[in-house]
Amino acid sequence: MKIFLDTANLKEIREGAALGVVDGVTTNPSLLAKESGDPEALLLEICQTVDGPISAEVVATDAEGMVREGRHWAGLHENIVVKCPCTAEGLKATRTLSSEGHRVNMTLVFSPTQALLSAKAGASFVSPFVGRLDDISTPGMELVADIVQIFDNYDFDCEVLAASLRHPMHVVEAAKLGAHIGTMPYAVLLGLLKHPLTDLGLKRFLEDWEKAKKELAAKAAH
Ligand code: E4P
Repeated sequence: MKIFLDTANLKEIREGAALGVVDGVTTNPSLLAKESGDPEALLLEICQTVDGPISAEVVATDAEGMVREGRHWAGLHENIVVKCPCTAEGLKATRTLSSEGHRVNMTLVFSPTQALLSAKAGASFVSPFVGRLDDISTPGMELVADIVQIFDNYDFDCEVLAASLRHPMHVVEAAKLGAHIGTMPYAVLLGLLKHPLTDLGLKRFLEDWEKAKKELAAKAAH
């Protein structure tokens, strides 16, 4: 499973990248709006920090505008993937952008049929939003399972990018279902690593080692 960071915060991206397990980054207008400075310059810095797909979202709502913005984003750096919303206009824009060789991440996907149409339009990634479905008492992970099955049935060349993952169990479930990618906030990535028994075990190993060293030193002194 590939791991993407779902943030536009450079500090988090640098720290995540230093762990050596980050394969890409997803941003959206809300995430970019939280950061200071020029979004274009920020995206370029992100591209230089992580050598993998970096999603940059269009904000136009008509196909023509989406294509214009998408071409602009894609022209900034070869790592940039154009994120389009899963609407009729987004579908048209995806068809145009993908036929020009630009990679598209279809975002705001909340149903298997939206994912099917996105793949048919040539999207390279579809992003089912798990957490936002859970938020409205609808099991988000079932959507991931449905999309993985549909894409497998027809061998679509489109990766399932499980998005809106809010905690480590979301990541575990998405991985068990065979999602190609999981995108998550930095705090969730850290949560994947953390285990109290690891911390406790390490503490004990180091204490025992120190104790043994002191005993050896005491023996040598006699
Ligand atoms: C994905 O690309 C989105 O940026 C993101 O996963 C949305 O997550 P949220 O529902 O926690 O805002």
